[in-house]
This record gives sequence, C-alpha cells and structure tokens, in this order.
Amino acid sequence: MVDYLSAKGWITQKERILLHKCALDLPPSSNILNIGIEYGASMACLTVPDVNLYGVDIIGNDLMSVRLDATIYKKDSRKLYSHWRKPLHFIFVDGEHSISGVLADARFASFLERGCKIAFHDCSITFGTPMAKLIVEEVNKAVNIWYNTAIGFIEIEGIDSIRMFIKASKSMQKRINIMKENMECDSIDLLESVDMV
Ligand SMILES: C[S@@+](CC[C@H](N)C(=O)[O-])C[C@H]1O[C@@H](n2cnc3c(N)ncnc32)[C@H](O)[C@@H]1O
Repeated sequence: MVDYLSAKGWITQKERILLHKCALDLPPSSNILNIGIEYGASMACLTVPDVNLYGVDIIGNDLMSVRLDATIYKKDSRKLYSHWRKPLHFIFVDGEHSISGVLADARFASFLERGCKIAFHDCSITFGTPMAKLIVEEVNKAVNIWYNTAIGFIEIEGIDSIRMFIKASKSMQKRINIMKENMECDSIDLLESVDMV
C-alpha cells in the first residue's frame, strides 16, 4: 500500500484525500491519467487496486520518491496527446502551468467517459509563494477558457487548489437541458439539485 498522505509533493492533505477518493470510486479496469509527476505525490494518491494508472512528465519518474505500479511516459504531455487513444475515467492536470500548457492538457478531457471527472491543480494559492500567485492566475484563466467552451461539463465541488469538473451522463445532460428550458436559466448553481449519475 502506497503512503499517499506522506509522499513528497506539493499537494495538501485535503487534496490527497479527495484524489484518493476519486480513484477509489472508479470501477475495476478504469484508466486514470496523471499529468505532472515530479516527486509522485499525486501518483501515490491515485494508486488503487484494479485501476490502470498512467503518468506523464517531461522528466518521467526521475524524481519520483515512491514505488508504485503505473505506466510512465517520459515526454511532453502534448506529444502524448497526439497519439493517445484510450478512454479515460479520471484526469489530474498538474503539468505545465502556463495558459497554453493547461489548455493543451485539458484536451485530454475529450477522452473522458460520461460521468467521469477532470481535476485541475493550482487553481488557488495553498503554499503562498509569490510565484504561486502568477501560476494560479494562469491556471485559472486557462481553466475558465476551457470550461466556457467544454460542452457537457459541469463544475462540481473541489478542495483547496483543486477545481473539478464532471462530464455529464446522458440522463444528467437531458435533465439539465430540460431544467434550462423550463427555467430559462443558465446558472449552474441552480443545477446543484440534479443527481450526479
Ligand atoms: C507541480 S509538478 C507536479 C507535482 C505532482 N503532481 C505532485 O503531486 O507532486 C509539475 C510537473 O510537470 C512537469 N511538466 C511541466 N511541463 C510539462 C509538459 N509540457 N509535459 C509533461 N510534463 C510537464 C514538470 O516536469 C513537473 O515535474
């Protein structure tokens, strides 16, 4: 069992618990993609039995401080995207923190199955360095641009610096459309009552 709560990395305890829960909730043989490995904390959080974990980083697992069962790609995530074919059931985006980098990585969301989630790290400051403020602004800009054009995704509750989105299931999408038509309202807040399955 990987000690995901103490593995080296820039992830808060609450974020670790959320990521681990997202992985645990997946059915067997699901595919998780972790973009940005560094010391491996998020990889450790996403390691659960019977689920396939894929990690990509330009430095591969050179710095990874934990030993775990995963497929590692040592390359630019843009290159991985250009030949990726597998369906995905959870994506954690924590690679290149520029607007173009986050937008490039958000493209993997097109491989997400309905009812599955994508999470973006560093959407708010948790470690408080001056650098962090710049990173957070870039990441949020990119996430907002992506979300404004991402069809069928709904923002759900994240934690600390994680923003999370779910790709609506067909029934959920149908109900959302009906609610929107009936209420003539675009507010996602009003959609919170919609069952997420
Ligand atoms: C903040 S660290 C990831 C931290 C890790 N998720 C954790 O839990 O500790 C960001 C990582 O993204 C990698 N990276 C930056 N740009 C990348 C790119 N274009 N493709 C793949 N990896 C990239 C960096 O090498 C770095 O290791």
